[in-house]
Amino acid sequence: MLISGSGTNLQALIDGQTNASLPINICAVVSNKDHVQGLERAQKHHIPTFVIDHKQFDSRAAFDTRLREIIDAHAPELVILAGFMRILTPEFTRHYAGRMINIHPSLLPKHQGLHTHRRALEAGDTVHGATVHFVTAELDGGPAIVHGQVTITADDTESSLAAKVLRVEHQIFPWAVKMFAEKRLAMREGKVIFDGDELAQEGVELKP
Ligand code: GRF
Repeated sequence: MLISGSGTNLQALIDGQTNASLPINICAVVSNKDHVQGLERAQKHHIPTFVIDHKQFDSRAAFDTRLREIIDAHAPELVILAGFMRILTPEFTRHYAGRMINIHPSLLPKHQGLHTHRRALEAGDTVHGATVHFVTAELDGGPAIVHGQVTITADDTESSLAAKVLRVEHQIFPWAVKMFAEKRLAMREGKVIFDGDELAQEGVELKP
């Protein structure tokens, strides 16, 4: 798993592994930032951790090459981006095509990029949420696996909305990982296949 921060999504997956609701073995956690809470969460569960500071590399390609070495040394079936705040090169995303997923805090294709909660409020959206998607070369543009929705209420602020969305993230991310682990989910020719059928553009809908 690749992280950059607090690692609450990592924790949701660790919890699923620990209580056996998820048939997975998180083999390594890599962060581009040292001293983040996500690393502590992994260490507490004896998951090997690695820090590769992107600032120590001359180029994005050099950073991605090192990242790839570390990942491939563990031969994971799935690479999970959980709050990993680096843009990846097209070569890197191609190498892991169909075996790398990300969680993004908006109902993609709405609000790609940063500050999604603020932008949803500014746009006057009444629903918001999070999306798990396969990663392709296009940033936040890969095909959606699952959407989790939240309702925006009049009293919502950026931080209350972020908290609401995180709760949904902690449901849809483990679900997507479980479906992949059970081989019910795949990406073929840029489309998501779930239980043998091609999914609609927004993926599976998880309503509140
Ligand atoms: C989440 O909101 C996720 O959608 C985004 O980064 C945040 C990571 O949170 N990509 P955490 O580190 O899992 O707590």
